[in-house]
Amino acid sequence: MLKSRIIADKDFVTAPLDRHIFGTFVEHMGRCVYGGIYEPGHPTADASGFRGDVLALTRELGPTIVRYPGGNFLSGYDWEDGVGPKDERPVRLDLAWGSTETNQFGTNEFMDWVKAAGVEPMFAVNLGTRGPAEAQNFVEYCTHPGGTKYSELRKSHGYVEPHDIKFWCLGNEMDGPWQTCGKTAQEYGRIATETAKVMRWTKEGLSLAACGSSARTMPTYGAWEYEVLDQCFEQVDFISLHQYFENDENEIDRFFTVIDDLESFIVEVVAIADAVAAKRRSAKRIMLSIDEWNVWYRARSGEQLRGVGWPQAPSLLEEIYNFEDALIVGGALIVMMNNADRVKAACIAQLVNVIGPIMTETGGPAWRQTIFHPFAHASRYGHGEVLRLNIDTGSFKAGNHDAAPLLLATAVHDPETGRATVFALNRSTDQEMELTAELRGLGDRRLVEAHELHHHDFKAINSKDDEHQVSPVRHERVAVDGEALTATLKPHSWNVFVTERA
Ligand code: AHR
Repeated sequence: MLKSRIIADKDFVTAPLDRHIFGTFVEHMGRCVYGGIYEPGHPTADASGFRGDVLALTRELGPTIVRYPGGNFLSGYDWEDGVGPKDERPVRLDLAWGSTETNQFGTNEFMDWVKAAGVEPMFAVNLGTRGPAEAQNFVEYCTHPGGTKYSELRKSHGYVEPHDIKFWCLGNEMDGPWQTCGKTAQEYGRIATETAKVMRWTKEGLSLAACGSSARTMPTYGAWEYEVLDQCFEQVDFISLHQYFENDENEIDRFFTVIDDLESFIVEVVAIADAVAAKRRSAKRIMLSIDEWNVWYRARSGEQLRGVGWPQAPSLLEEIYNFEDALIVGGALIVMMNNADRVKAACIAQLVNVIGPIMTETGGPAWRQTIFHPFAHASRYGHGEVLRLNIDTGSFKAGNHDAAPLLLATAVHDPETGRATVFALNRSTDQEMELTAELRGLGDRRLVEAHELHHHDFKAINSKDDEHQVSPVRHERVAVDGEALTATLKPHSWNVFVTERA
């Protein structure tokens, strides 16, 4: 049996965990909005048309912040189309996804939904077809108390109180040739700077994120981040990273190492951001927002990618997740938590139907995909400070990695409640692992809960008829003695151990 050892110490803290890393994403595309969160006439829909089953699963999933309204959709979106009386809203072509947008759902509906779901909004402004003026108007419409053209317009739409929206993204994937009116780094850096200025002058206290690269594999990666930040460094708080994991080779060991690639991505973007700071002799630190991430590679071509004949809410990007995908999602969450000093926001993309942890049938049920479970665990138990870990484990060779650690783990300690949770991913495909975790300085521990996500079949899925194929069960092989926790981890398994002071 493999043996791995973790040592953590109460006083060795990486950083407090920013709960915004448990975000998700709702884009106007496919069946994410229409048939996902919003479906008037659905048996579970409320008076606003919000699906009650999806709301209940969203609460269980536990996202803290939700990005909206896109994505590629954003770069052709006029926010004015989605506010005001519904019967006066224009129907538009959505060039990004070859679809027809009815605009029956917009900013105010989203804010109502956000309240119902108990989450925070993360908005994005269109820097594709539009620019600073429209972004300024939009911020005024949403956040200004009253007495001006756009704040009064909001009031006339029935929203007397301003919306509380702090986090804003300056465009979406502006480096991508697929983006409506994509830009060079020079062009984007400039428009992001000027847009950020007018947004901040309109409303104080906003958190602003500039677009980083759409992927680490983009030809402009690195140079893009440097140039963009060199221009808008003073104006923004975050640089974004987008990361979609793929397993086209259908090779599990290599697939596992996409998690290590994410670690490299984070480390590199931090280095670039800090190089821009160094050039200015600035103590300011730009934080990372991984505002789109997930496994996505199957539903990525043809009619799964783009509507044909301008349909309304077609089935796009409806990735069916399997067990191995859930392990990747768990591993990615571990990496994000371990980088809590710089990763301060992240959004699993997306929430429902479109590469989502939640799946629905229009007019029918909603269910949890496999990836739902590690995310729900991380959000539920990821409170407090991330402890710096010393990990002693074996390694494997795959992809570009000569020595990828078999055990991926993180430990989060909440000084207020005294709870400490260990998340552990055994990446051995064939061997059990005996794990010893020394939680030094935390005092004698007592096990509160322990969960295991495992399946013998990497390709096992959940479906509407069998939602529990891949579901967590109680971890039976764990013991706590003093400050030490020992557990036996099944091969290729995700494990969560929640402890508190004895
Ligand atoms: O999440 C799906 C799409 O992926 C988003 O619209 C875009 O930003 C990214 O390319």
